[in-house]
Amino acid sequence: MKRIVINIWAIVALAGFLALVVFIAVGWSHGFNSRTEPTNLEGSIAMELHDSSIPGRYEKMQNPVPTEHLNLLEAGMLYEQRCAACHGDSGDGTTKFDGMMYPRPTDLRSDDTQGMSDGELYYTINNGIRWSGMPAFGSRGDNDENLWKIVAYVRHLPKLTVSEQQVLTQSKTR
Ligand code: HEC
Repeated sequence: MKRIVINIWAIVALAGFLALVVFIAVGWSHGFNSRTEPTNLEGSIAMELHDSSIPGRYEKMQNPVPTEHLNLLEAGMLYEQRCAACHGDSGDGTTKFDGMMYPRPTDLRSDDTQGMSDGELYYTINNGIRWSGMPAFGSRGDNDENLWKIVAYVRHLPKLTVSEQQVLTQSKTR
């Protein structure tokens, strides 16, 4: 029993020490500001923590809004109102905040994002991402139809044509 308690304390002390080393290394290298590009290690640790925080049941959750019947203009406007300021009209993540936020708003067309399941995308949009600028847009559990439409639109982003984007930008300014 005594040995188990000692082992637990050793693990806690080691974890604390490692956390301190990471904290000092990050702070030392770029002072916790948003300007400098983070190291690959820091980026991948943050991503890993985020991915593993999504409850398992979201992995297999299907989008109840059939993509083939998606009203692109309607979904696009929802995206424009809530997402485009940070992720850009085309989803590429370049906006006026480019290089001013860390974590950087993700390129939503990237393999990383498109590799997430529909449910994982929904969970992320619904609940946001802690310690980042990504807001939580949901308040209606797993049944917010507008959020599911945005998920379908995020799926469409890699295929968004220039003319579709023009129609959306014109509707926005009307
Ligand atoms: C205020 C800025 C901001 C707004 C508005 C915003 N996001 Fe984000 N979003 C971020 C940032 C910053 C990240 C990167 C977080 C990270 O790397 O941990 C992010 C990450 C994400 C991710 C995770 C991508 C991945 O590969 O892990 C998804 C999906 C996402 N956003 C979708 C959306 C959608 C859809 C909307 C609109 C409903 C939206 N975001 C609105 C800032 C924003």
